[in-house]
Amino acid sequence: MTAIGIHDIELASTHHVLDLAALAATTGVDPDKYRIGLGQDEFSVPAPDEDIVTMGATAALAVLDRNGLEGVRTLLFATESGIDHSKAAGVFVHQLLGLPPQVRVAEIKQACYGGTAAIQAAIGIVQRNPRERVLVIASDVARYALDSPGEPTQGAGAAAILIAADPALIEIEPATGLFSANVDDFWRPNDSSTAIVDGKLSISAYLDAMTGAWDDLAAQGGPAISAINRLIYHQPYTKMARKAQARLAEYTGVELGDAGLAEGAVYNRRLGNAYTASLYAGVASVLDHESGLTGKRLGLFSYGSGSVSEFLTGVVQTGAESRTDHFTSVLDSRVPLSVPEYRELHARALPSDTDVVTPRVTAAPFRFAGIEGRARRYERR
Ligand code: COA
Repeated sequence: MTAIGIHDIELASTHHVLDLAALAATTGVDPDKYRIGLGQDEFSVPAPDEDIVTMGATAALAVLDRNGLEGVRTLLFATESGIDHSKAAGVFVHQLLGLPPQVRVAEIKQACYGGTAAIQAAIGIVQRNPRERVLVIASDVARYALDSPGEPTQGAGAAAILIAADPALIEIEPATGLFSANVDDFWRPNDSSTAIVDGKLSISAYLDAMTGAWDDLAAQGGPAISAINRLIYHQPYTKMARKAQARLAEYTGVELGDAGLAEGAVYNRRLGNAYTASLYAGVASVLDHESGLTGKRLGLFSYGSGSVSEFLTGVVQTGAESRTDHFTSVLDSRVPLSVPEYRELHARALPSDTDVVTPRVTAAPFRFAGIEGRARRYERR
């Protein structure tokens, strides 16, 4: 059987960052609640001329620069923070990257799980024709109401992932564990720019879904827990990965300790939640911060509130050896916001009845230029 999986992966984020210590100082919360209790240090904040399209296009540009366009006939854009009820955000990326017309573009939605659904669809396409490669973009802006418990777990980021035969980084194995259940833990009504969340329910729903998906993985012939060398989890905040690993250890009766958790959290601690991109930021973080993984098996747990989840496994390939941390310098280059500046940006809403010209702020290769006749406009900077 042809080996199919992740051939390349690149992350992108926003122009601005908020230091959670600054937020804690303003709200009177002990900063250790964020740093230790949630496992978060900062979160990314989009400038007015940034959104899921600009982040996704930026990440994808790097992937295509390294790998070329050959065989790319599908672009799947996964997001929870869609910018249009009808048009796929990927259509704007298609234009910004100058992709040929012979590319199918579609958007996939299921909260934070959508990126994994896109990867599985991509694997199916490559299985049918191993000469094709599929560009998957997972890009999100996580927004909760000001002064809500979710506020410190906001964030923004994108992952561009090239799915191909004979992948350089991770071969995704065929057995996969699924678990879906209708639960009101987190959702975003069409008329709301912030998510509605029952935080405590979302934690228990996540953990129950994980053990459910684990059982299904076993039923589908997946590997034993002892045959998995590193576990990487969806990280709405990085403490959630610690909770997940502890639950899985308890559930399987195998001591897992905190192996791999720090390496998988390096980027996520600073991005904040990036919904669909969160698990894949964790994957990139592990590949970029741990050596000697070639031939080792990764277990990936993907959770999307609402809820759909999947436990998949993959084997690290030799190409991972050449990966180094280049994303920390990207995170370092973000421009810090004061708390009042962040609050002002958070409160900013795009009018629906007039044209909009956005201020020039971002230093990324692409920008959201504004709205003309209710249609969004993007440009290369
Ligand atoms: N020092 C160290 N840790 C501290 C602390 C301090 N001074 N103060 C609190 N903590 C710890 C708590 O003990 C708790 O740890 P635990 O989860 O291991 O029990 C953690 O910090 C969070 O504190 P808590 O009081 O539970 O936070 P909260 O009620 O304000 O909300 C969430 C936490 C995650 C529910 C909230 O941020 C949220 O709703 N986020 C969005 C939804 C989400 O991300 N869900 C995850 C699953 S998808």
